[in-house]
Amino acid sequence: MTLQELTAAFAEQYAQRPIPADGPIDTSHIDTTPDTDEFDAVWQQVIAETRARGNDFHLPLSVAYARRLCDAYPQADRELVLVATLLHDTGWAHVDEDRIISEGFRGDWRKSDIRFEHELQGCEVAKRVLPGLGYSDEFIAKVTAIIDGHDTRQEAHSIEDALMRDADRSWRFDRVGIALASGWFGQTPDYYTDRLEEEIIPELITEAAIAMAHADLKRSRDLLKTAVLR
Ligand SMILES: [Fe+2]
Ligand SMILES: [Fe+2]
Repeated sequence: MTLQELTAAFAEQYAQRPIPADGPIDTSHIDTTPDTDEFDAVWQQVIAETRARGNDFHLPLSVAYARRLCDAYPQADRELVLVATLLHDTGWAHVDEDRIISEGFRGDWRKSDIRFEHELQGCEVAKRVLPGLGYSDEFIAKVTAIIDGHDTRQEAHSIEDALMRDADRSWRFDRVGIALASGWFGQTPDYYTDRLEEEIIPELITEAAIAMAHADLKRSRDLLKTAVLR
């Protein structure tokens, strides 16, 4: 099937949005997610890539949220979601650092050239790292199909793609994501958290991600006193 056909089939299969969860939704603070060494072999291959653009926070946190999303959507291929999430932004380490700020966070950043470049470079990282760890060509192709376009494609083409996309946004509602991303965009926490509510929650695809986002946003706003410090 072509990407277009896959996207259309997924939209038809999951016509109800946000996508209702079949499994449990855990809205407790992400700190309570237990650590696991499940993908340490993959992490070890991308240490250099975690040093770019806040990835050393963004990637582990996104994987922690992805685990919860997989619990809520047990029909998804868990390993695919988690490996794709772990690797999705590794491409930032292979694009020009200065352009990350000048193009990646300003204006219509979702359509900037550097966005497409970090997606392609992330696919290259997956193709470099995963074969040596015993992952099949078929699995790797599914991983790169998710990484390719994760920021620039409008629509998800599978439940795994949808969960990765929601995991990529979920970390932003935690105080770590707020601290890092409000700095990237040059915005104060009160303004940034308002934007999260108005712009990012409506982009979430799954019921579970929306519930987690609301719970995190409430906790973060209370903790950061954004109602007063504005
Ligand atoms: Fe990205
Ligand atoms: Fe990301």
